[in-house]
Amino acid sequence: MAGKILDGKALSAEMRDELKARVQTLQQAGITPGLGVLLVGDDPASRSYVTAKEKACADTGIHSQEMRLSAEATRDDILTVVNTYNEDPRIHGILVQLPLPDAAMEQDVIAAIDPDKDVDGFHPVNIGRMMLGLPAFLPCTPHGILQMLHRSGYPLAGRHVVVVGRSNIVGRPLANLLTMKNELGNATVTLCHTGTRDLSVHTRQADVVVAAAGRPNTITGDMIKEGAVVVDVGVNRVDDASRPRGYRLVGDVDFEAAQDRVAAITPVPGGVGPMTITMLLYNTVASAERGLKRT
Ligand code: GUN
Repeated sequence: MAGKILDGKALSAEMRDELKARVQTLQQAGITPGLGVLLVGDDPASRSYVTAKEKACADTGIHSQEMRLSAEATRDDILTVVNTYNEDPRIHGILVQLPLPDAAMEQDVIAAIDPDKDVDGFHPVNIGRMMLGLPAFLPCTPHGILQMLHRSGYPLAGRHVVVVGRSNIVGRPLANLLTMKNELGNATVTLCHTGTRDLSVHTRQADVVVAAAGRPNTITGDMIKEGAVVVDVGVNRVDDASRPRGYRLVGDVDFEAAQDRVAAITPVPGGVGPMTITMLLYNTVASAERGLKRT
């Protein structure tokens, strides 16, 4: 029997309704949550992520403003925009879409963001606080995955979760959050990556597989235990002449093969992606609420 589809769009809509109510309360106190967006270069995937995030802001009552810089922008050009957002009291959250055209700049740019406006949860201060279990902005994709499993009735306490991929944005922070002794975590975690020998030995033991490798078909059907839950973080464009855009999106999991074995699986698109955006809205609203408490 085919496993249940974990509908990230529907869950996001529920969570966004909760956020809309919080935005209204803020507005009654004279505060509109604001997100400052910076897009550097013209990568089409980044462009479309940023557009989706801005639309989600508008739908939730969050003000967003965008600065665009060319792919040739210098470190100083980028830091100038970040500082402008840092100092603007109408901006409660800052989003610098990654990857930057020059990846070597990324850590300096992230470090320049005011940690109190770091709604991506990428700043070393927030990552350190997260690791210590202190209040912090949590990175959006890992937090979205945990919320999705929790709200869909798949608690992780005591389960073996195998995460495939060790990025700073997804795999490593997710592995960390999964170890937390709280209602979203308390899992046993294995973190696999490109250096892992015989990946399938690990994934076949997993109660939950999280695929965040960035490569189609990283997880084939035979790599999944019967009855496992599968979370697919991959967003890969593959050529498809039958589609108007000439490509279609696929995840890191062979969805067709997996679907018959799993208890539940996230689709691509419509699974983790909308949850990532929702958690960005969540952090931006939380940041505006913190500002309200301080004034
Ligand atoms: N690139 C891929 N995912 C993300 C994300 O969550 N935030 C930012 N800023 N860039 C990304």
